[in-house]
Amino acid sequence: MKDNKFLTLGIETSCDETAISVVADGREVLSNIISSQIDIFKNYGGVVPEIASRHHLENINGVLETSLKEAGVTLDDIDLVGVTMGPGLIGALLMGVSTAKAIAFASGKPIVGVHHLIGHVSANFIQHAELEPPFMALITSGGHTEIVQVDDYDKLTVLGGTRDDAVGECYDKVARVLGLPYPGGIPIDKLAKEGEHTYHLPKPLAGEDTYDMSFSGLKTNVINLVHNLEQKGEEIRIADMCRSFQDVAVGIVLDRASKAIKEYGIKQVVLAGGVSANSYLRAEMQKVCDKLGANIIIPPMWCCTDNAAMIAKVAEHLYDMKVFAGLDLGVDPNWSIEDWNKFEN
Ligand code: KG4
Ligand code: ZN
Repeated sequence: MKDNKFLTLGIETSCDETAISVVADGREVLSNIISSQIDIFKNYGGVVPEIASRHHLENINGVLETSLKEAGVTLDDIDLVGVTMGPGLIGALLMGVSTAKAIAFASGKPIVGVHHLIGHVSANFIQHAELEPPFMALITSGGHTEIVQVDDYDKLTVLGGTRDDAVGECYDKVARVLGLPYPGGIPIDKLAKEGEHTYHLPKPLAGEDTYDMSFSGLKTNVINLVHNLEQKGEEIRIADMCRSFQDVAVGIVLDRASKAIKEYGIKQVVLAGGVSANSYLRAEMQKVCDKLGANIIIPPMWCCTDNAAMIAKVAEHLYDMKVFAGLDLGVDPNWSIEDWNKFEN
């Protein structure tokens, strides 16, 4: 049922989740269907791009049908189609964008391309009607680790980020070497609660006056430590390893985030991305913000990881700003967050 509401269909296929959502008036999530390929990639220890694209292709029509059905609407009721056009895996993105264009073409509805990371940040607007810039967004996911100052909806500055791997990617690779399932963040987070910080892992770039972060050395240190212990025939205390790793990985993010809050006089912080589901990061960032007098918005679990409601939210915002794409909409796998609104006229 439409009830004179403005309905946006969000489509997200940037990585290994085929997600389609119907959002009414930018606030009410009528459906949020996510078909995850996690079980497939558990066997590989990570996402295989070619396989991901194939599964999007197989799943997307079914996900669309279920999403519309659950929302109690038909394609005729939809007012706007929003789709993730980057950053992400090129083949995976193409599946979502092609579907969105087919829907827009067949139904004559407007279409708009959405930046995936702005989607993660904007998930918070669905839950927090009062949230508005300025704020600092701490984006931590499987593909990105960035501290972004959001002065206005179209004025974003990257204050710092990783020089190499993303923090989520590091979690996934460390989990793999420890024999834990993909995606690694979830089991490491759980086991870390049962362990002690007994393994020494140096913190990369510690003491440097920078907003840069680095995770690849940390990953290598864990791999080397594990191999060393194996060679010596010593027991690997998995929970202790998880705790030691997590303290350092999240510690890197906390150090840079607190530096930014202090030095830029940030008054409001927003967490975004899959790693913001991490219990230690959530608790420690709350403490950091309390100590530094900043308000913090922590997204509910359902909107930390990839979903399409967050994409619909951004699409509606772009629509309000009269930003549309044409049916020549392409994908941009390396789209920078600073020019997320590149279609703005
Ligand atoms: O945002 P997301 O769903 O996909 C990307 O855009 O990358 O993030 C997925 C990442 C994975 O690396 C996963 O291990 C991590 O988020 N993750 C976590 C937790 N839950 C998911 N990392 C740490 N702790 C968690 N509880
Ligand atoms: Zn994501």
